[in-house]
Amino acid sequence: MSGKYIKNLLCIGAGYVGGPTMAMIASKCPQYRVTLVDINHQRIDEWNSDRLPIYEPGLDEVVRAARGKNLFFSTDIENNIREADIIFVSVNTPTKTFGVGAGMAADLQYWEKTARQIIACSESSKIVVEKSTLPVRTALAMERILNSNDKGLHFDVLSNPEFLAEGTAIKDLLSPDRVLIGSRLTDSGVAARQQIVDIYANWVPADKILTSDVWSSELSKLVANVFLSQRISTINAISAICEKTEADVTNVARAVGMDQRIGARYLNASIGFGGSCFKKDILNLVYISKSYGLDEVADYLHYVVKMNDYQKERFVESMLQAMFNTLAGKRICLFGFAFKADTGDTRESPAIYIAKRLLEERADLVITDPKALRNARKDLAGGGDHVTYIADPYEAVSGCHAIAVMTEWDLYKSLDYKKIFEKMIKPAFIFDGRNIIDHPRCFDIGFNIYPLGKPPLTHLE
Ligand code: UDX
Ligand code: ADP
Repeated sequence: MSGKYIKNLLCIGAGYVGGPTMAMIASKCPQYRVTLVDINHQRIDEWNSDRLPIYEPGLDEVVRAARGKNLFFSTDIENNIREADIIFVSVNTPTKTFGVGAGMAADLQYWEKTARQIIACSESSKIVVEKSTLPVRTALAMERILNSNDKGLHFDVLSNPEFLAEGTAIKDLLSPDRVLIGSRLTDSGVAARQQIVDIYANWVPADKILTSDVWSSELSKLVANVFLSQRISTINAISAICEKTEADVTNVARAVGMDQRIGARYLNASIGFGGSCFKKDILNLVYISKSYGLDEVADYLHYVVKMNDYQKERFVESMLQAMFNTLAGKRICLFGFAFKADTGDTRESPAIYIAKRLLEERADLVITDPKALRNARKDLAGGGDHVTYIADPYEAVSGCHAIAVMTEWDLYKSLDYKKIFEKMIKPAFIFDGRNIIDHPRCFDIGFNIYPLGKPPLTHLE
């Protein structure tokens, strides 16, 4: 216990998940002291500054309202562990790049280091909550490590997966479809679970707070991401059929999505899904399936990722074909680099693959994006003189042969395309990887338009 606060909550890992989630908890629960710690000093400095390390609509206001009152950001991991009653863990769990399961299994080294640090610094029993997406049964392994301590301390390990999507994180946290909390079904586990329920009950209606066993909770997070990404891969597969048959994928998606059993969301054909979760979580589940000898299940799930890779390559090939089978020396402007709109995050962004492939074809690239240029520079560090970064889209298109839309930023829907056309080399092309631009209007201006899953509009031939 800690003076004016009824409990100390700590989050280890101040990233895209930990930052917004804990800021929301702090703003809704003034009775708790909420601290975020991270090994990355620069990140913590930025959380304490006016320029937060991540861009997320509405996040600045939530952080500003609570920071210094009951929300704190620190690099002092040891003392904060000692003082915490409940520890949320949201360190990164990337896909393993080495050894058994390389390219597929989750790399749990950061999680295990964190567990050992919790043991080393703790002087009292604590509740530990998994926030990172982890393979099913990780909580059990972590519980074993934590409870092997020789200090006589007891740790309950719970699963509370985060379902927020970037770009809408604050909205998702404010009114979640559900909050899921899994625990062991022992007296101690259920009591620990109730403490987490009590936190969310400050603003989430009781009927949206689900409790379950810990493994179902861990698995549910992976399965939700399989369902969402599988819809995107399905509509992307259909976009390829539409291009061959002159059907229009938007019309197909609308007709299909009006079926209430199917629903309209996650049916936008695109250059492929990106982001830190989808691919990683599917591969994680593929690996788990394989390790249980469920090869057919693994193959079935794996195809969601393979279709996503195919879609990115298909986009590059259609650019190549439309631009007379050579891109060498041509200047191509990428509209957007973030993996989706309203974020500066570029992890697994399809734009990375497409940019690298275009560079292989010896194109020159101009990258423009309202929030992601800092990350784009890191992602394309090897591009040398062949890549330039320009924030203003009107300046970026100057002297370009083509525009390729990578991210569905609203900004790109309302640009003055007449002005843009005038600045470009002719014939000028638009490859709309998100189907967000007014195609007939841009065609009338003079562009050759190549949408996804729709017949092209071209002045050539
Ligand atoms: C996802 C899940 O939505 C979220 O619940 C989970 O916690 C983390 O993973 P996120 O990756 O942040 O969230 O964004 P999301 O909006 O789901 O988009 C993922 C990718 O799919 C983006 O690249 C997006 O552009 C793409 N997408 C989405 C499509 O291509 N078409 C669609 O119809 C929807
Ligand atoms: P996510 O999208 O899952 O939040 P991020 O990479 O944005 O992923 O955030 C994870 C954070 O966890 C990073 O800021 C990283 O520095 C931090 N981190 C990783 N390992 C540790 C650790 N052992 N102790 C504290 N923080 C850590």
